[in-house]
Amino acid sequence: MELEKIVVASGNKGKITEIKAIFTGVEIVSMQELGFDGDIEETGKTFKENAKIKAETIAKKFSLPALSDDSGLCVESLRGAPGIYSARFSGEGDAENRKLLLKRLENVYDRRAYFESAVCLCFPNGKTYFGEGRTHGKILYEEIGTNGFGYDCIFYSDDLKKSFGLATDEEKNSVSHRYRALCDLRKKI
Ligand code: IMP
Repeated sequence: MELEKIVVASGNKGKITEIKAIFTGVEIVSMQELGFDGDIEETGKTFKENAKIKAETIAKKFSLPALSDDSGLCVESLRGAPGIYSARFSGEGDAENRKLLLKRLENVYDRRAYFESAVCLCFPNGKTYFGEGRTHGKILYEEIGTNGFGYDCIFYSDDLKKSFGLATDEEKNSVSHRYRALCDLRKKI
């Protein structure tokens, strides 16, 4: 399908930068660039439901195809938490979220975790397409590296054999949940 311009339905700068680097060949604008700075309430119970809510809202608002990503970190020993609540885990932002997760995993031997992403492309006529992706790894015992955003510096990637906090943009974008979800989406449109 020929796509010319897409609005990214997200206010997260880290996500927007990655989506722009991965989803090439189409003009990508952020909703902020179009003058929208508001929050979209994520009332869904899954990554996919939340992705749909965000993309539908923005596609309707701007009468343009909208692409959203709903994602998070799922920790096996916490039965998948923080999951869809990753951004709101501590209620106080990324640094506090990481601190709280490290605290919850104090003395926990099983550190297995994965990032999950659901992306949704929604057209103004309501037609929606989805893509999903995961990337596996382990929660480190402390922050390592300063690259990326969110939980990157406490996530050891099984694919890269190092912390996402030490990975270059290219390295992370070649194995990430977001990259895999966007590839999955591309196959379907
Ligand atoms: P939401 O999709 O806006 O609900 O927020 C996703 C949250 O999950 C982010 O705020 C991050 O805390 C976390 N997250 C999602 N993807 C990544 C990633 O690629 N690296 C690090 N943290 C991530």
